[in-house]
Amino acid sequence: MIGRLNHVAIAVPDLEAAVTIYRDILGGSVSEPRPLPEHGVTVVFVELPNTKIELLEPLGEGSAIAGFIEKNPAGGMHHLCYEVEDIIAARDKMLVEGARILGDGEPRIGAHGKPVLFLHPKDFCGTLLELEEA
Ligand code: CO
Repeated sequence: MIGRLNHVAIAVPDLEAAVTIYRDILGGSVSEPRPLPEHGVTVVFVELPNTKIELLEPLGEGSAIAGFIEKNPAGGMHHLCYEVEDIIAARDKMLVEGARILGDGEPRIGAHGKPVLFLHPKDFCGTLLELEEA
């Protein structure tokens, strides 16, 4: 069911500092910051030949990643995003398998304008997973 690794997301306390690291030190191609208030994050993407790195900074009150940054003050790997062909079919398969879907179980529009779902890390080897319809 899962296809390409769409991105690896890293939550950071300071997006500007993270952009400097990825653009100036690692020499990556980094997009302009984009606020996503409905997800409580500001995001940039680092384009790599085979995938992307998503750098996430908390945005606004009660950001979904605020607690993560509290536990990981220097930042850390937050989630992996796998592409799927059909997000509803993927959601239904996860429910049949007994996996927990975060939120109300309905896909939301993610950072790429495509529907996404998040799966509970305790059901997936301790890693938060995002599924994105490719
Ligand atoms: Co993501």
